[in-house]
Amino acid sequence: MAPWLELPFDIQNVTAEEDKLIKKCMIGYTKPFVKCGKKGYIMPGSFRKHAERIYNFQVRPDDIWVITFPRSGTTWVQEMVWLIQNDLDFKKAQEIPLFDRFPMLELTPQIPEMGLQLIKRNFLNLGYFQGLGKAARSPSWKNIEEITAPRFIKTHLPLSMLPPSLLDTAKVIYVARDPRDAAVSYYFLYKMVSKGFMRVTFKRFWEAFKRDLLPWSPIIEHANEGWEQRHNKNLHFIFYEDMITDLPKVIRGVSEFLKRDLTEQQVNLLANHLRFDNMRKNKTVNNTMHTNNEVQFIRKGEVGGWRAHFDDKMELEAEEFLTTRLKGLDIEYPSLSICESSYL
Ligand code: A3P
Repeated sequence: MAPWLELPFDIQNVTAEEDKLIKKCMIGYTKPFVKCGKKGYIMPGSFRKHAERIYNFQVRPDDIWVITFPRSGTTWVQEMVWLIQNDLDFKKAQEIPLFDRFPMLELTPQIPEMGLQLIKRNFLNLGYFQGLGKAARSPSWKNIEEITAPRFIKTHLPLSMLPPSLLDTAKVIYVARDPRDAAVSYYFLYKMVSKGFMRVTFKRFWEAFKRDLLPWSPIIEHANEGWEQRHNKNLHFIFYEDMITDLPKVIRGVSEFLKRDLTEQQVNLLANHLRFDNMRKNKTVNNTMHTNNEVQFIRKGEVGGWRAHFDDKMELEAEEFLTTRLKGLDIEYPSLSICESSYL
């Protein structure tokens, strides 16, 4: 048994003003949100109770982890990884929902404190959060500890808040996306799960996003932590935009990383399965609760779709956000490079 590690970061409540703004965007939370460590990663208040256990989670050598900031293409890559690792067993993938095949480590601390029954009655549709029932009874990280190998683990936590043995032990795939597209997608996700109860406009949501106040923020520091490890033999770094540009190429890269040989025919078969319209129709991966829901979990699948939601002022703010947050960091987003137009 590895020695128990104390958290290397502190956890502080956000200010009352920050909490008010966050709670306009995130419905159902009563405890103050918290900021973790120097980078100030935001989490719901109940994360306090779980942080140390998650940091001490026992990683196994045959684990495969997918780490992302929310709405960066997590589901897309989870499905890809699971299928590559399971000899393209499309039948099994169709039978078992992705959230069971590839559970989320910190699902429990993410559950709003208002309680499941209240949430169910009032505003959340549990179709999306089917796994929440289980995660409410027993912590998600504990449920994952009990899974018989090999495990597939999803998390939105940044590397610095995960077990320090992770990259020496397991295989990790990190996925990053242009923060502006992630912001829009994040907004629509919360709009979807809270039905009509989340009244804020995207403009207001952006206020919180650009101040790095939404859960798992700051997005750019988060991605940069993965980027800094891109040469680590146990971490494979992907940009969402590259999947849009050339999905078969990304599939080949992931299968090589996982040491799985795929024939060109298998690559094409998998790419077809992972196509936006096929993923959208696929009930085991599209977590949308009502098929007639206006906003779907698998929503638009575009690069640069943010433009339709930002007015001139917000666009300037986004530029400033990107410039200030990227200052001194290493990460190079493909959608921000000189060739940006090739992604649009
Ligand atoms: P949009 O809301 O911009 O459409 P996550 O799984 O991390 O929550 O990310 C969800 C985002 O990935 C959504 O973005 C969703 O549409 C997009 N996505 C999922 N599957 C996709 C696919 N096959 N092709 C393109 N985008 C996909």
